[in-house]
Amino acid sequence: MGTEGPKSREWESWFIAFVLAILVMSASYVTLRKNFGELNVFHGPRRHPGIAHKYADALGIALQFFDVQKSGKLVNNRISWRGDSALEDGRQENLDLSKGVYDAGDLMKFGFPMAFTATILSWAILEYGDHMKQLKELENAKDSLKWITDYLINAHPSANVLYVQVGDPELDHKCWERPESMTEQRPLIQINTSYPGSEVAAETAAAFASASLVFRSTNSAYSILLLKHAKQLFTFADSYRGSYSISIPQVQNFYNSSGYGDELLWAAAWLYHATRDESYLEYATTEGNLFANWGTTTWFCWDNKLAGTQVLLSRVNFFESKNIQGEQNIALQLYRKTAEAVICGLLSNSPTATPFRTKGGLIWVAQWNPLQYSVASAFLALVYSDYMITSNIRNLYCDGALYEPMDIRNFSIMQADYILGNNPMKMSYLVGYGSNYPKYVHHRGASIPTDAKTGCSNGFIWLNSTHPNPNVAVGAVVGGPFQNDTYIDSRNDTRQAEPTTYNSAFLVGLLSGLITTSSVPQSFLW
Ligand SMILES: *[C@@H]1O[C@H](CO)[C@@H](O)[C@H](O)[C@H]1NC(C)=O
Ligand SMILES: *[C@@H]1O[C@H](CO)[C@@H](O)[C@H](O)[C@H]1NC(C)=O
Ligand SMILES: *[C@@H]1O[C@H](CO)[C@@H](O)[C@H](O)[C@H]1NC(C)=O
Ligand SMILES: *[C@@H]1O[C@H](CO)[C@@H](O)[C@H](O)[C@H]1NC(C)=O
Ligand SMILES: *[C@@H]1O[C@H](CO)[C@@H](O)[C@H](O)[C@H]1NC(C)=O
Ligand SMILES: *[C@@H]1O[C@H](CO)[C@@H](O)[C@H](O)[C@H]1NC(C)=O
Repeated sequence: MGTEGPKSREWESWFIAFVLAILVMSASYVTLRKNFGELNVFHGPRRHPGIAHKYADALGIALQFFDVQKSGKLVNNRISWRGDSALEDGRQENLDLSKGVYDAGDLMKFGFPMAFTATILSWAILEYGDHMKQLKELENAKDSLKWITDYLINAHPSANVLYVQVGDPELDHKCWERPESMTEQRPLIQINTSYPGSEVAAETAAAFASASLVFRSTNSAYSILLLKHAKQLFTFADSYRGSYSISIPQVQNFYNSSGYGDELLWAAAWLYHATRDESYLEYATTEGNLFANWGTTTWFCWDNKLAGTQVLLSRVNFFESKNIQGEQNIALQLYRKTAEAVICGLLSNSPTATPFRTKGGLIWVAQWNPLQYSVASAFLALVYSDYMITSNIRNLYCDGALYEPMDIRNFSIMQADYILGNNPMKMSYLVGYGSNYPKYVHHRGASIPTDAKTGCSNGFIWLNSTHPNPNVAVGAVVGGPFQNDTYIDSRNDTRQAEPTTYNSAFLVGLLSGLITTSSVPQSFLW
């Protein structure tokens, strides 16, 4: 990919400048380390906020995964082994669906988890963008978010049509090739009024609404556009109720949805934050009676947004409940009570502690991509503990036992530390962090040398290869360990070795929140 020319003089001066820059950077890095030591967290005054280096380093790595996954014509991409790909996506319908991110180790663009990734990335930026800014990572995070929302805007060409998939997973999985050399057909799937998909439309509305908040102060035209798409899609999702798994049964093999009620509430919660229009709270109240399942705890993941909605609406209850009356206030309390039950379940020594965890202390719910539940739970707990600290609420009672915000934060720290290597395998499940991380990640681009001449079907030699991946999938959060805390570093095990974009989005939020103890969310009201 490099452009080599005869401009060697110029090149030399660039090289000298580069070496000088590296020297200056390492000197200041050493000074920082000296000042703040190896402490996980520096308890310093707000004026000189300390940085937890471990989490700061890991955040810089985690954010690069979006550069690994980007489709389309790349701009300033930080991953040297990636190039342009999928430039023709959407062409058959006169749409430009070239951007967005590949979902996982394959080359599919699945709209449902992609939109969820964008929503989580937005949430992370809204809560902890000031921390990202201190580390000069905020622009990287916003750039990755926009890469997805640009795609989603193009995937929503009219009010009641949303393209929810690019590529055919059956065809796609018969190939093992780099995205840059992809040749198979890339069919499109849309939802519309005859074939509705309320969960994917509502999740995409949530992504648009949350991103509109992220870009409000820096790119207001874009923010307004995002909000327009959010409102349209929410109306579509709500007016034409139906699951995309039923409208389009072939999606059941990959991201099968268990229902759309949770996404409708989640989207309404985000639209309330983006608009302050109380009709969305009213919606979360009345439809909450149908869909919220108050009192019952659930795992937050791409298929179930209830726990996320409970924590997000707790934000309203914590910071602005004085302004909200009657039924809506009662509903907000029910959401918050359920959020508390979720948090109580996560604390390992709580009377209501969930049994879904490993001996090593990791939240572990299912064989396939277990880390998705650990990072999601840790992010929610951290956000919740920060809401408590910000609003000076010191106590959380779990069946009579008293916990404080720092106990909750400790849970999140424990999950993060496990993922970064403090676990029985002494393995970092964040690829590129530390020295002992998975070397056989189930990821096409990472597993195939950039100069390989293989194509779709003979590319499987790279899946079969006994050598470690030639390229590092920097920032990938793999599926993770078995329930017994062990991990087999094997490329063909998709349960353990395949990363996803939403795993990395959650880890980005978690690490950003842990970087400093000055854990006050950047503002009470967005
Ligand atoms: C509506 O969506 C279905 C399912 O994707 C598709 O088969 C159908 O062609 C779409 N309708 C129109 C008018 O494009
Ligand atoms: C998809 O989910 C629906 C609703 O939960 C369920 O009825 C169906 O069996 C699931 N399909 C597959 C392939 O798991
Ligand atoms: C949090 O964990 C640290 C280290 O494991 C421990 O020293 C500290 O007492 C814990 N704090 C709380 C409030 O549990
Ligand atoms: C890869 O391994 C599988 C299973 O061992 C085998 O069937 C297949 O032929 C191999 N493919 C290539 C291209 O080596
Ligand atoms: C851990 O669990 C996996 C999956 O159940 C199993 O294959 C493996 O043998 C177990 N390892 C140990 C050390 O028990
Ligand atoms: C990878 O695993 C799948 C599912 O277990 C199996 O069908 C396939 O043959 C394996 N492929 C290779 C190359 O080993």
